[in-house]
Amino acid sequence: MEIKKIVENKEDFMELLLLADEQKNMVNEYLYRGDLFALYDDDLKTVSLVTGEGENIYEIKNIATYEKYQGKGYGKYMIKYIIENYKNKCKILLVGTGDSKKTVSFYKNSGFVYSHTLKNFFTNNYDHKIFEDGKQLIDMIYLKIEF
Ligand SMILES: CC(C)(COP(=O)(O)OP(=O)(O)OC[C@H]1O[C@@H](n2cnc3c(N)ncnc32)[C@H](O)[C@@H]1OP(=O)(O)O)[C@@H](O)C(=O)NCCC(=O)NCCS
Repeated sequence: MEIKKIVENKEDFMELLLLADEQKNMVNEYLYRGDLFALYDDDLKTVSLVTGEGENIYEIKNIATYEKYQGKGYGKYMIKYIIENYKNKCKILLVGTGDSKKTVSFYKNSGFVYSHTLKNFFTNNYDHKIFEDGKQLIDMIYLKIEF
């Protein structure tokens, strides 16, 4: 298993990035200003994208594993790798997610704790309703790790 930092042709990873953030213009907002990582186990399994958000703050904007490879530990491996790589670069690592039990516990299991809520983020920024596990996403829940 290996994780590579992708610096060219980032749009080649769009299909996977859209799994976690289904509106292309939202992905394009951070694709070129962020650090893109791709996890390969033979072939591509997981991507993640991290942006600088001001002094001492980085944010995981996107993490996605191809559906058929989910639940095999690739996501957790990627999150650990990002935590290791950013702990000396910043004081706070943030991640924003919809209010979905599954994803919130995915981050909590990796050491993130609740930070704050951005009210109406999904209804204000997306041109259509977003559902996860049958529930409409309204607010963005931010979690953080303080180093
Ligand atoms: C969330 C996600 C990145 C996790 O990646 P993964 O490779 O499946 O992660 P792992 O195999 O390391 O699983 C980690 C945990 O996530 C849980 N999980 C599995 N599938 C999941 C899913 N579809 N959504 C959320 N969590 C999931 C697993 O149960 C596991 O928990 P456990 O450690 O208690 O067994 C992946 O499920 C995914 O791509 N989901 C769709 C995109 C998405 O929602 N991204 C996050 C946006 S904020």
